[in-house]
Amino acid sequence: MGAPSPFPYQGSKRQLANVILRYFPEGIGRLVEPFAGSAAVSIAAARSSAGKRFWLNDTNEDVMQLWRAILETPEELAERYAGLWQAQLGQERPFYDQVRDRFNRSPSPGDFLYLLARCVKASVRYNSDGEFNQSPDNRRRGARPETMRQRIAGSSRLLGGRTELTTLDYTDVLAAATPSDLVYMDPPYQGVCTGRDSRYRDGVSFRSFADALHGANDRGLSYIISYDGRTGKKQHGRPLPRDLELVHIEVDAGPSTQATLLGRSARTIESLYLSPALIERLGVGRKANDMLTAEQQLALFDSP
Ligand SMILES: C[S@@+](CC[C@H](N)C(=O)[O-])C[C@H]1O[C@@H](n2cnc3c(N)ncnc32)[C@H](O)[C@@H]1O
Repeated sequence: MGAPSPFPYQGSKRQLANVILRYFPEGIGRLVEPFAGSAAVSIAAARSSAGKRFWLNDTNEDVMQLWRAILETPEELAERYAGLWQAQLGQERPFYDQVRDRFNRSPSPGDFLYLLARCVKASVRYNSDGEFNQSPDNRRRGARPETMRQRIAGSSRLLGGRTELTTLDYTDVLAAATPSDLVYMDPPYQGVCTGRDSRYRDGVSFRSFADALHGANDRGLSYIISYDGRTGKKQHGRPLPRDLELVHIEVDAGPSTQATLLGRSARTIESLYLSPALIERLGVGRKANDMLTAEQQLALFDSP
């Protein structure tokens, strides 16, 4: 079963979060998410007491303002969403356009939450002027106000009072993380436009990401990365460089939607990479890096 989600977000790791938690060492002081988005892994960790303190970071200002509202003014946010949801009834399409125009003139977390709930695939897209330009999914009205209120209140209870929020580049977050932290990284696929700021419009480059990981290894950071993966035999993206000495684990994330639509049965296999310092901390031998099946790898980590 997936972890609860504070808001809909394309690329959320909600379905995989509980599997990712299996690779958490005991006694983490702080869980750090440099590419937080909807922070599905932090939510799942807080829920199962696998982390005491949290640091959520994302270069997308709108996402981080929404997090600030969830943690600091959850009732006000839920009220605002409920008002928008009710007001849209009977005029869903033009109402979405009005909210989007207002948001582009003057961004607010309530409007952003409504746009996320209604837009195509809950995926944030901006034009070259930094304006939100994703279209509505006309089959969706967005979660009902009561459901949204519960999600917001639940996330606020889990993370409120013990979470730091920032909008830095992930390299600055890695530079400030310490060996007692656990860092969970879920970077965007290459070439995905993820924010208003044109510096990040091309996503995270493979080269600079690999360099940042070398630096993190030198500093003995414990980290887990979700990185691309494959559908059936089709590999998405390049595997991370071998000289990083990461343990590569493949997790079966279920049938691929694309393949199902085409009448095939390929499954989506997600890749997780574990840092050398984390492997050391978990007390698992490097044999996990051999070509074991996902089940064998999980069994390895399950054993006392
Ligand atoms: C795949 S999503 C993360 C999804 C997240 N795991 C979840 O459960 O919702 C990747 C995130 O990285 C952010 N991002 C892109 N470039 C970044 C950068 N250079 N530094 C920090 N965050 C970045 C994007 O805004 C996006 O929210």
